[in-house]
Amino acid sequence: MDIEAEIRELQLDSADNNGVINPEDAKPEEVEMTDKVEVEGMKDEVHRNSQPAKVKDKEAAAVEDVEALDEKGKEKKRHLNVVFIGHVDAGKSTTGGQILFLSGQVDDRTIQKYEKEAKDKSRESWYMAYIMDTNEEERVKGKTVEVGRAHFETETTRFTILDAPGHKSYVPNMISGASQADIGVLVISARKGEFETGYERGGQTREHVQLAKTLGVAKLLVVVNKMDDHTVNWSKERYDEIESKMSPFLKSSGYNVKKDVQFLPISGLIGTNMKTRVDKSICPWWNGPCLFEALDRIEVPLRDPKGPFRMPIIDKFKDMGTVVMGKVESGSVCEGDSLLVMPNKAQVKVVAVYCDENKVRCAGPGENLRIRLSGIEDEDILSGFVLSSVAKPIPAVTEFTAQLQILELLENAIFTAGYKAVLHIHSIVEECEIVELLQQIDPKTRKPMKKKVLFVKNGAFVVCRVQVENTICVEKFADFPQLGRFTLRTEGKTIAVGKVTDLPSA
Ligand code: GTP
Ligand code: MG
Repeated sequence: MDIEAEIRELQLDSADNNGVINPEDAKPEEVEMTDKVEVEGMKDEVHRNSQPAKVKDKEAAAVEDVEALDEKGKEKKRHLNVVFIGHVDAGKSTTGGQILFLSGQVDDRTIQKYEKEAKDKSRESWYMAYIMDTNEEERVKGKTVEVGRAHFETETTRFTILDAPGHKSYVPNMISGASQADIGVLVISARKGEFETGYERGGQTREHVQLAKTLGVAKLLVVVNKMDDHTVNWSKERYDEIESKMSPFLKSSGYNVKKDVQFLPISGLIGTNMKTRVDKSICPWWNGPCLFEALDRIEVPLRDPKGPFRMPIIDKFKDMGTVVMGKVESGSVCEGDSLLVMPNKAQVKVVAVYCDENKVRCAGPGENLRIRLSGIEDEDILSGFVLSSVAKPIPAVTEFTAQLQILELLENAIFTAGYKAVLHIHSIVEECEIVELLQQIDPKTRKPMKKKVLFVKNGAFVVCRVQVENTICVEKFADFPQLGRFTLRTEGKTIAVGKVTDLPSA
């Protein structure tokens, strides 16, 4: 095994860089306003043994109202999942809401209603965010808690927007959002002091970028937001300052800044440089694209629709049978298919497939789906289980070998055998223990070090054995990057990122 090459891969994500986009099968048309991927109670608590979070009524209802739209023979568009990330109050929900408004999904009357509601809550400027922030707690506090979900289309692409929370208490929800995404929009506030707070240690800008990279978000659009703010006033100097500070950091997080990252200035609140390019009278120096154009053009790796079927389950509910939700990471699924729910090896049959609220006959990789199953009760499914092909089921293990990069340990903590943390891998949240450190890798030469390793510090690369109490379904990173990369967190902080390098043989 070439550890050196593997580590480079983990950092540079070369596994995801070899191809272009996926025109896909299922097709949408109806647009639905936001709904929520509810991952409540996930503030780093392992909830595997408890019931997974409930899905809001709105979602269950949505599944009912839809009609099959896949037989109209409409032109196929590719589908991309885009997660909005960045520090608290950077303007993620505002920008997401503005996108929906500009793409004609929210009418003026609704906006006026939100303006009034926001004013009544003394949060005048938050009305655009209300499009994405749909629950009362979020509106009162002005903070996203759950990942908001919405759909819109450009010329070439159907997008699912996942609006992640920026607050540090809700990083687990952000992880869940990012793990469903193909690309990310990193929102940075250009307002005086706000970029600084978000970017310094403790700010979520850095943590979100590192998590997004590890979770397989292949490309980033960095939108420098609030350019209209009076402390910014579309200043080129401010924009350049942010770009020049962010670039080296993005590079050190594993993004190829030339190929995988694009910066652009916007005002999410006013909607400038979003659907159409910013007027020269406002911003004479910007010659690049607007946000919709940039999203339209972004290219992502081709996924294999013929691979063995894998869909990690994020949630489930009862609705004329058992409905599971998740994103297809590999392969395709069609009505009538026989599948396995892993790790409990339950044989199930696919009764119906819903994609973006529409019933479809088949769906391919990258799609966020709801699948109605027969042959299993919803009580027998936990989030973190994986819907899997029968011929080639996903491995179920209680131990694996991994390569880790230690980011930042808690003060005075040492990383050694016996270290306990919370493992986040695809839709799994599970307590784990490092049972053995096998080898340290020299970060400079990237070669394995000869000396036996007993403990490591921040920044170290280390190969170790990781154990979990309950059986979980994971893959080797080399085989399925999305199902083989993970983060370790302790006390609400991400302390390491890693990838699965080996699984015990069955
Ligand atoms: P969290 O969900 O808590 O992480 O925040 P967020 O990133 O979703 O930010 P949100 O959209 O809630 O906006 C936070 C505040 O910034 C609100 O008062 C917005 O009106 C303001 N804001 C967002 N975008 C802009 C912008 O382009 N210009 C100005 N001037 N203010 C903005
Ligand atoms: Mg928000």
